[in-house]
Amino acid sequence: MKTLIINGSPRKNGDSMTLVNEMIHYLHGDMRVVHTYYDNINPCIDCRYCWHNDGCSINDEMQELYKLLDEVDNIILASPLHFSELTGKMLSFASRLQCFFVLRCIRKDSNFKLKNKNGVLVLTGGGDGSPNTAIASANIIFRHINTKLIGTVLSLQTNDIPANEDVEALSKAKDLAFRLSDLYKVV
Ligand SMILES: Cc1cc2nc3c(=O)[nH]c(=O)nc-3n(C[C@H](O)[C@H](O)[C@H](O)COP(=O)(O)O)c2cc1C
Repeated sequence: MKTLIINGSPRKNGDSMTLVNEMIHYLHGDMRVVHTYYDNINPCIDCRYCWHNDGCSINDEMQELYKLLDEVDNIILASPLHFSELTGKMLSFASRLQCFFVLRCIRKDSNFKLKNKNGVLVLTGGGDGSPNTAIASANIIFRHINTKLIGTVLSLQTNDIPANEDVEALSKAKDLAFRLSDLYKVV
C-alpha cells in the first residue's frame, strides 16, 4: 500500500503533522510526506503549456508528484486553517493540478483517468471561524486527483487543546488509518 501525504502546514511538527503522524503509526507500506512550505513546488502560472502538451512546463518537484498521483493508493491532505482556508502553499500545490483539469475539460481527452484512490483530510485550527471553505477547497483537490474522501480528522480548538492532547481527533486519525488499510485489502 502506498500513501502520499501532502502537508500544507509550515510547522513540520505542528498540530496537523501530529495527527498525520498518528495515522502513519498505524499505516503500513510506503509513505511519502511532501512539506509544501519546504519542498520545491511552485504555483501554476497559467502559461497554458498544458492546453497543447501533456504535463506541466514548470520543472520542479511536482513532476515527480504527478507520477505518484497516478501510482499511490491513498492521499492524505493535511492543513491548518489560515484565514479560514487551506494554507497558501497547499493552494499552490492545488493550482498545479490544473493540467489534469485541462486534459479532461479543455482538451476533452476521454482516455485520461488517474488511478482511483482513497483520501483523508486532516484540518486543524486555533478556534477562529468555520472550516467550511477549507473543506470545500479540499473536496475540489480530491476531485481533481480522482480520490474518494473517506473521512476527515478535525482539531479546531488548538489554541486551547493542541492536537497532541485532542483525544477525539487522535482516535479518529487512528480509525481512519485502519480504514485505509482495510479498503486496500478489499481491492
Ligand atoms: C497566518 C495564520 C492564519 C490563521 N488563521 C486561522 C483561522 O482562520 N482560523 C483558525 O481557527 N485558526 C487559524 N490559525 C491558527 C492555526 O490554524 C492553528 O494554530 C493550527 O493548529 C496550526 O496548525 P499547524 O501546527 O499544523 O500549522 C491561523 C494561523 C496562522 C499562522
